[in-house]
Amino acid sequence: MKYKELMYSDINMQLFHEFNRYQKVTKRWRNIDGKWIIENVNLVEQWDENDFETIIDCLHTTIETGGAVFGAFDSGFLKGFASIEGVPLGIHHDYFDLSLLHVSSEMRGKGIGTKLFDMVCQWAKEHNAKKLYISANSSVDSLAFYESKGCVDAAETHHSLSERKPYDRQLEYIL
Ligand SMILES: CC(C)(COP(=O)(O)OP(=O)(O)OC[C@H]1O[C@@H](n2cnc3c(N)ncnc32)[C@H](O)[C@@H]1OP(=O)(O)O)[C@@H](O)C(=O)NCCC(=O)NCCS
Repeated sequence: MKYKELMYSDINMQLFHEFNRYQKVTKRWRNIDGKWIIENVNLVEQWDENDFETIIDCLHTTIETGGAVFGAFDSGFLKGFASIEGVPLGIHHDYFDLSLLHVSSEMRGKGIGTKLFDMVCQWAKEHNAKKLYISANSSVDSLAFYESKGCVDAAETHHSLSERKPYDRQLEYIL
């Protein structure tokens, strides 16, 4: 597996040719009256061409606004990526938003997410961030990953992010 920071021109539809977002979600966290509970669901997350176009636009904007995008490649094909925004958030401007982190379905559980998370943390520290902010997918599997890294519920909620994805769980990670 090869890891590198991606340039604006690297990010296009071709890059995602061998990337599979597929995720079957059978359990997810929900906040009911202030308490987190696990509910059973039967959902499939998948991206179509429009979704990939949206992701490409988001990643381009990340780079244009001073953030960074990292990719994991297997035999030249993208199998994981992460993006960190360059505009600090929070009352004290000390949070940096880990905006996207995804590993292709057939490559999950092999440490790729961990390596990308570490690259994002390193970049954020170099930019004087104190914490990462993560609006995390509420599936039990996805949150188990963030829990394993030591992420906790965010002390400050960033409403523009939480309102965009109301089922997400708002987390932070102290760098
Ligand atoms: C969440 C995600 C990025 C993690 O990447 P990954 O490469 O699969 O994770 P890693 O292999 O580095 O796992 C690191 C640790 O996380 C935990 N973990 C990861 N996947 C897990 C799962 N399905 N169930 C329980 N724990 C899990 C484990 O503690 C694991 O350590 P271990 O392998 O020593 O047991 C990846 O699974 C993914 O893309 N999921 C779908 C999309 C998504 O939810 N993205 C996050 C959006 S906010």
